[in-house]
Amino acid sequence: MSEAKTILVTGGAGYIGSHTVLCCLQAGYEVVVLDNLSNGHREAVERVEAIAGRAATFVQGDIQDESILDRIFSSHVIEAVIHFAGLKAVGESVQKPVEYYTVNVGGTLSLLAAMERAEVCNIVFSSSATVYGIEAPTPYQESLPRGTTSNPYGASKAMIERILEDLCVSNAGWSVVNLRYFNPIGAHESGRIGEDPQGIPNNLMPFIAQVAVGRRPQLSIFGGDYSTADGTCRRDYLHVMDLAEGHVQALGYLGNKGCHAFNLGTGTPVSVLEMVHAFERVTGVAIPYQIVERRAGDLPEFWADAQLAETALGWSAKRDLDAMMEDTWRWQSANPKGFTSQ
Ligand code: NAD
Ligand code: UD1
Repeated sequence: MSEAKTILVTGGAGYIGSHTVLCCLQAGYEVVVLDNLSNGHREAVERVEAIAGRAATFVQGDIQDESILDRIFSSHVIEAVIHFAGLKAVGESVQKPVEYYTVNVGGTLSLLAAMERAEVCNIVFSSSATVYGIEAPTPYQESLPRGTTSNPYGASKAMIERILEDLCVSNAGWSVVNLRYFNPIGAHESGRIGEDPQGIPNNLMPFIAQVAVGRRPQLSIFGGDYSTADGTCRRDYLHVMDLAEGHVQALGYLGNKGCHAFNLGTGTPVSVLEMVHAFERVTGVAIPYQIVERRAGDLPEFWADAQLAETALGWSAKRDLDAMMEDTWRWQSANPKGFTSQ
């Protein structure tokens, strides 16, 4: 009988990471989670284990700590790394560029150095649609070059993609998949795990969900005068479980050497107002809102060309907007204060 393969998931106690750990456990992988809990929750991993009926190994530590990394690689036979750990708030990255480059780029470099020492050369990296930059034509296609990023967060993702490409040039043994996420929302259908941002949410869906449970009085819609049909921005929202499943597909792709980039999105843009109305229709909960000034740095619209992921990975988004709303609401209404609710 062949041994189950072990995957190191950095940032596995976070939003996308926890859903992906669940999918990996359910797909039969052994999982080691490395997370410093700066924005993740130990409770999320415990709930994942309960849903899966299987345990993961949890290590609390920082990706910048090479001794922890070496210890993980020497005490487990790691087949591949899924690398989520990092800082992700765009506005904060403008205020704290040194911290963002240190954690995101520096942290990735220490991870890659430890992988080289351990001769583990398979990695799936959490990239972002933001690497296409501010001038790219929509829908975004992987054949487009990386563009001009408008903030340190986006620049850190583009830099890491470049570093991973250089690594593949230096050593033909490396296999890298850069997954460029569009806008993940929703939660596992159990309602046991979901997105639990600290402080005031920056992103649309958690903000709507917190208005719905009464934690915020109303939603501010940033700009109603864009050149879209209803004047609000359009994005490609995808269900976090579809995104998580995309990582399992990407693990299967890692036999292909070299560096590969795939969009993970639905290929269909939805406006902010359409999001609000979909949430209200599916949940029956009214979302008071006010249209305010545009948010600096927002693009009017972008969405994925999702064809390559389907052709190469056999992946496409399966869950529709109603499921995204239902699952968000199941999570938020059962856990109004996130993981600290119970
Ligand atoms: P998240 O903040 O919920 O998860 C990140 C996890 O990494 C957290 O659990 C945090 O505690 C951990 N972490 C942070 N710094 C660490 C460090 N130095 N060492 C160890 N652990 C550390 O974020 P998420 O939404 O799940 O995003 C995961 C990844 O996907 C991030 O790299 C993010 O940039 C990327 N991404 C997210 C989105 C999105 O919309 N959520 C979109 C595109 C890309
Ligand atoms: C943002 C980041 C992007 C990052 C992604 C996931 C910016 C410019 N981009 O994408 O780099 O990868 O988050 O973390 O920050 N909106 C409101 N009211 C709100 C919140 C959002 O109207 O309270 C609008 C925004 O103006 C936008 C849409 O909702 O039009 C989606 O916003 P958001 O969820 O923050 O995602 P992005 O801006 O697409």
